[in-house]
Amino acid sequence: MAQIKFEHVSKRFGDVAVIENLDLHIRDQEFMVFVGPSGCGKSTALRMIAGLEEISGGTLSIGDRVVNDVHPKDRDVAMVFQSYALYPHMTVRENIAFGLKIRKLPQAEIDGLVNEAATMLGLTEYLDRKPRALSGGQRQRVALGRAIVRKPSVFLFDEPLSNLDAELRVTMRAEISKLQRRMKVTTVYVTHDQVEAMTMGDRIAVLAPLKRHPSGNLMQVGTPLELYDRPQNLFVARFIGTPSMNIVEMAVDADGTALRFHDFVLPVPAAYRGGIGAYAGRNVAVGFRPEHVGHAEEHQWDTISPIRGEVEIVETLGHEAIIHFRVGGSMVIGKIRGHGVVLPRLGEAIDLVVKASSIHLFDPQTEQRLPEA
Ligand SMILES: Nc1ncnc2c1ncn2[C@@H]1O[C@H](COP(=O)(O)OP(=O)(O)OP(=O)(O)O)[C@@H](O)[C@H]1O
Ligand SMILES: [Mg+2]
Repeated sequence: MAQIKFEHVSKRFGDVAVIENLDLHIRDQEFMVFVGPSGCGKSTALRMIAGLEEISGGTLSIGDRVVNDVHPKDRDVAMVFQSYALYPHMTVRENIAFGLKIRKLPQAEIDGLVNEAATMLGLTEYLDRKPRALSGGQRQRVALGRAIVRKPSVFLFDEPLSNLDAELRVTMRAEISKLQRRMKVTTVYVTHDQVEAMTMGDRIAVLAPLKRHPSGNLMQVGTPLELYDRPQNLFVARFIGTPSMNIVEMAVDADGTALRFHDFVLPVPAAYRGGIGAYAGRNVAVGFRPEHVGHAEEHQWDTISPIRGEVEIVETLGHEAIIHFRVGGSMVIGKIRGHGVVLPRLGEAIDLVVKASSIHLFDPQTEQRLPEA
């Protein structure tokens, strides 16, 4: 059992608080992804699990053991970094075996483990090469090999693919997912990449910098689709999804049935009808994803009136076109078909419709999602 538990964990560097109130339970064999803006504390949280950073408060456990004061080498975790730092003068075989040699395992056992890892990673034919004679992806696999031969109870990855080109990232993403499922090792994976987070994680933890959320960094934890379909606050709503969710402040009608912003009117979705009374006559933050903003002719959406704006950017992707248009002070992004329609010109006025049943409502002050029935 290698569940990982953060209980009220905090971390300060001198006077600077970086992590506050972190409560997170990573299940045995789970693939957990940490995402969040630069500087929010992802690497710090990972390094605390590895024991490379001391924790300033709270309790951190791995399995059933509190590890606050356990030395890194006694935690049974293996970490893979962005810069994989192989020993250039050693062969692939020696690089992978290095940690095992230090631990003075018998040579026959080392050979067995290295060969097994090499087979798993498709490195068998490169075992006698030096790293300089390998591609970036092959080097990254050697770094993975070094981690897996240790058969740790926890894998920690800190943006391991960010030095690779787009195509290799896709391949390595799949390799790491497969490997983790086969080895059933509890894994924490830090990334900036939305697609990595959405496709690799059993669950994703979204972290925010304490500067923005002084009460605690953890904004939401859930499966990729839970975060995408039901973000619990504006931070997660804006962070998950590319292009980001549109957020527009709209006034709630006196009877709580419609939302208005100038001429743009949306019906309040049924699920929110019960809870919206408290906001009658006030503003709510309305979120809608770009795929829910489009041409009326392309969709059968239940709307009252379109949203009108001035086109500022048109991005043609072939199968679709992404339209950025200005509505009052905000930019709104919509998606329309890329073929068989006349694309709007810059500066032109455009009317698009919004799929009302897919909107998300938030309190503009607390930034929390409004209750739904
Ligand atoms: N040794 C240190 N001393 C002082 N401050 C530090 C130290 N290490 C990290 N920090 C600060 O802690 C904060 C969190 O850093 P961390 O590296 O965990 O962020 P991150 O989320 O991994 O960011 P990135 O996505 O850029 O890698 C940052 O503001 C950073 O400047
Ligand atoms: Mg980092």
